[in-house]
Amino acid sequence: MEAAARDLLAWYDRHRRVLPWRAAPGASADPYVVWLSEIMLQQTTVAAVAPRFAAFLDRFPDVATLAEAPWEEVAKAWAGLGYYARARNLHEAAKAVVARGGFPKDEAGLRSLPGVGPYTAAAVAAIAFGRPAVPVDGNVERVMARLHAVRETLPAAKRALAAAARAFGATRAAQARPGDFAQALFDLGATICTPRRPACALCPLTHTCRARAEGLAEALPAKSAK
Ligand code: ADE
Repeated sequence: MEAAARDLLAWYDRHRRVLPWRAAPGASADPYVVWLSEIMLQQTTVAAVAPRFAAFLDRFPDVATLAEAPWEEVAKAWAGLGYYARARNLHEAAKAVVARGGFPKDEAGLRSLPGVGPYTAAAVAAIAFGRPAVPVDGNVERVMARLHAVRETLPAAKRALAAAARAFGATRAAQARPGDFAQALFDLGATICTPRRPACALCPLTHTCRARAEGLAEALPAKSAK
């Protein structure tokens, strides 16, 4: 997996999506910006978040401004993103971060914030703090299922796929750039290793991918019959 991790990161360096919450290559990420984007992306697509993200950040440029704002203002700025419980948690988490003097820097600390589950904690820990965490969502599960030709159906395969993602993230190449590695997996799942008609010919992992070799890419991950 070492060579595959290197190939994935090299691909990311050439093809990374430019997204409003992403720091420029090599620049350090603002934990507030990363956290805010990951909360918005929990139940809303990249395409829907992108235009609203800048307006929200304009109105609440840092965590202190957000913490001090009246709830009504936060709700107004959240309009269009839906799932208002997220905005409530966002506001409460901002107050907690200010009260404790800054963002927690590891997964366990981040998970103590309202609205931050395992996936979001791993994403923020990796992207904002360079911690060796791999956020695992349905996209990453799909990439792992194909890479290793895991035929076990979802959701039973979840543990095995999470373990595969952890092992991939434990390579030296991934450990050197945990935030880029996580975002490379997001981008690969969104643009190449798509649920339908994956673009295997363009995939940086095409020579490693067992599903590709076995002609199973589109068929995996398998879903259990309902
Ligand atoms: N989905 C969840 N987090 C993301 C991110 N940081 N970039 C792109 N897609 C994402």
